[in-house]
Amino acid sequence: MIVAMDEDGRIGKGNGLPWRLAADMARFKRLTEGDGFNAVIMGRKTWDSLPDGFRPLPERLNIVMSRHTDWANEEAETALYPGRAIEIAYADGCEECWVIGGAQIYGMYLDRVDEIHVTTVHTTGSGEVSFPKWDKSGWTEETIESLDADDGNEHSTRYSIWTRSGFKG
Ligand SMILES: NC(=O)c1ccc[n+]([C@@H]2O[C@H](COP(=O)([O-])OP(=O)(O)OC[C@H]3O[C@@H](n4cnc5c(N)ncnc54)[C@H](OP(=O)(O)O)[C@@H]3O)[C@@H](O)[C@H]2O)c1
Repeated sequence: MIVAMDEDGRIGKGNGLPWRLAADMARFKRLTEGDGFNAVIMGRKTWDSLPDGFRPLPERLNIVMSRHTDWANEEAETALYPGRAIEIAYADGCEECWVIGGAQIYGMYLDRVDEIHVTTVHTTGSGEVSFPKWDKSGWTEETIESLDADDGNEHSTRYSIWTRSGFKG
């Protein structure tokens, strides 16, 4: 799972990201593309929010979660339930599955992932969409990088990887 959230756990404003963070977008691309062929799993609203030119996210299998059996797009696979998204990814030969949001989809997969890549954005009250309630007992955080704000990055950030001990998948 990969997410950027502010200090209040806010992740979205309207149907978009609340901040402009070029370094974080570049990291997102690098991590989710990986070295092989990976899948990104997202909610239909996040799919709708992707800007022109980034839909589908290139070089990755785009899997969109929707409850509507008639939702279809030739640039993406559709999954009606969480296990189906994983089946599609592995049937297509993906090495890694990245759950990329938004809030409803994070909530659905929170108990199923073993690693969460979190960018903490050093601001508060960024929007009305929040990351779901997350019980961090059993999770360990390793801070990887802290970055200052600059021209391309509206706020300072801290990137860390949370892992769950003893997770069997
Ligand atoms: N900061 C970040 O890292 C980050 C990352 C991603 C997104 N975001 C933000 O998050 C916001 C969007 O989040 P959101 O929670 O409103 O929407 P979302 O999670 O992107 O998508 C919600 C949609 O997913 C489908 N869905 C939900 N539960 C399902 C289930 N059990 N089975 C199958 N499909 C299911 C439904 O689609 P249908 O209505 O088609 O049935 C639902 O409307 C935006 O503001 C976006 O910018 C932030």
